[in-house]
Amino acid sequence: MLRLAVLVSGGGTNLQSLIDQIEQHKLPNVKIEVVISNKIGVYALERAKQHNIPAETILKKEYSDNEAFGEALRKLIDRYQVDLVVLAGCLLIIPEQVIHNYYNRIINIHPALIPSFSGEGFYGLKVHEAVLARGVKVTGATVHFVDEGTDTGPIILQKAVMVDQEDTPEILQRRVMEQAEWEILPEAVRLIAEKRIILENNIVKIKK
Ligand code: GRF
Repeated sequence: MLRLAVLVSGGGTNLQSLIDQIEQHKLPNVKIEVVISNKIGVYALERAKQHNIPAETILKKEYSDNEAFGEALRKLIDRYQVDLVVLAGCLLIIPEQVIHNYYNRIINIHPALIPSFSGEGFYGLKVHEAVLARGVKVTGATVHFVDEGTDTGPIILQKAVMVDQEDTPEILQRRVMEQAEWEILPEAVRLIAEKRIILENNIVKIKK
């Protein structure tokens, strides 16, 4: 059984894509042990509650410094004894204590084709605003391992999505979620559950 901790910050549609695939038996041997939010009252927590998944909230402002927060987050995740940490619409910079304790066991979904439109300042709608401002014709989403950088870890899966010239950031965000994020995040979890991910010199290869 691949035990997951899913970290969220907002609406939780990526979390929902995992819940749906598990409940539809399309993700065998995968279980979400806990949903952890760094914001109170977000709908992702409601989604966890609706599906009887334990949910926790941890607020950085309640800790004296980054070190204390990082330690508390690591202990919280440790408590659920998970194999994989999934950042699903998570806008938190993951503290180094967590990254070191779960090295190559944290994955993130980014709403662009890394290395394009990624790194510091590229999150949520800002990504799609930058895509439209640059006038690119193709965007997409990326699932990658999380390392000490921002959106810099080894790429696991990517999927392209066409940009329409009438798109607004909101319309484009929705299409990228529907056509890419909600597909490749569960697929990446499936590949990890099936132990088909190989890392060679920081490049991901998938066992056929
Ligand atoms: C998604 O585009 C995700 O990639 C980004 O935030 C948006 C909302 O994610 N990080 P969710 O609905 O909270 O999963």
